[in-house]
Amino acid sequence: MALAQRWPGAENGNAGTGLAAEGRGVEGKGMSRVIAFRAEGDAARPAPGFDPTVAHPARVYDYWLGGKDNFEADRVAGEQAIDAYPAIRGSARANRAFLARAVSYLAGQQGIGQYLDIGAGLPSAPNTHEVAQSITPQARVVYVDNDPMVVSHARALLTGGPHRITAHVEADLRDTGTILDRAAAVLDFTKPVAVMLLAVLEYLPGLDEIRQILDGLVAAMPAESFLVISHAASDISPGRMAEMTSRLNGQLAGASYTGRARDVVAGFFDGLDLVSPGVVKVTQWHPRSQFESERAASQWGGVALKQEDLPRR
Ligand SMILES: C[S@@+](CC[C@H](N)C(=O)[O-])C[C@H]1O[C@@H](n2cnc3c(N)ncnc32)[C@H](O)[C@@H]1O
Repeated sequence: MALAQRWPGAENGNAGTGLAAEGRGVEGKGMSRVIAFRAEGDAARPAPGFDPTVAHPARVYDYWLGGKDNFEADRVAGEQAIDAYPAIRGSARANRAFLARAVSYLAGQQGIGQYLDIGAGLPSAPNTHEVAQSITPQARVVYVDNDPMVVSHARALLTGGPHRITAHVEADLRDTGTILDRAAAVLDFTKPVAVMLLAVLEYLPGLDEIRQILDGLVAAMPAESFLVISHAASDISPGRMAEMTSRLNGQLAGASYTGRARDVVAGFFDGLDLVSPGVVKVTQWHPRSQFESERAASQWGGVALKQEDLPRR
């Protein structure tokens, strides 16, 4: 795993990233287009249905962020987590700030015009398309989540402006085939793309399964693409995190929240070149101020480049 020095002012290696005005399989020319897809049913792993009486990951996270798209069960679970780990609220905000800085870097420094944001969560400004399209107006963003409430809110709110394309796919992260298939209606996988997995891999308990998912996604990314990951840390305030994790797992619908150590998260980037400073607390990935860098964070984060189409080890 090499460390690529590509910040700031790195040479733009993506001169060919310019996007055509229309997406493949997208109707309407030069208009704001919002496309919704629902994956074929996966009987073994049904998407979490809408049940306001049980806490759901997206809604608990929304509560921590100060959002309004949550119910009593989410607030109870959210408060129990805060009680165990009071910094979780600030940490959720720090994770969103990392998202904004990472996309800003990819759009501004690397010329990336396509984003596949998996486990996108309920809308919380600034969202991926808002950051990307503020820099690259033609940027295309596909949001994916397995929670139908997330997808319906996103469909309503995350539309992008004129000439911009935003699409929404309801699918499970484990179903990479469906995700890539649906995303290919909007994203051109012959050109660089940023695949974003922010605060979502912690909902998958198995490392082998995560490796398989990452291998599938990275294989679909052409050279000069980027992978962005943030992940709950088991080794930052470990005692408090362990207690918070145990409380969350007692409340969340079908979820198995798993914090992981920095080395494990760094291993998710194997075969790719990590952008400096590598995998760090999300607050320390190119913070915009010293104040930001010193804030509490319970997430590891990193951004990595796929240099060329070599098989991953
Ligand atoms: C904590 S939120 C993170 C939202 C956003 N990525 C961020 O970092 O701000 C986790 C999101 O992942 C989604 N999620 C959890 N497990 C998933 C899975 N197996 N497939 C797709 N989405 C999943 C949840 O529904 C939720 O919206």
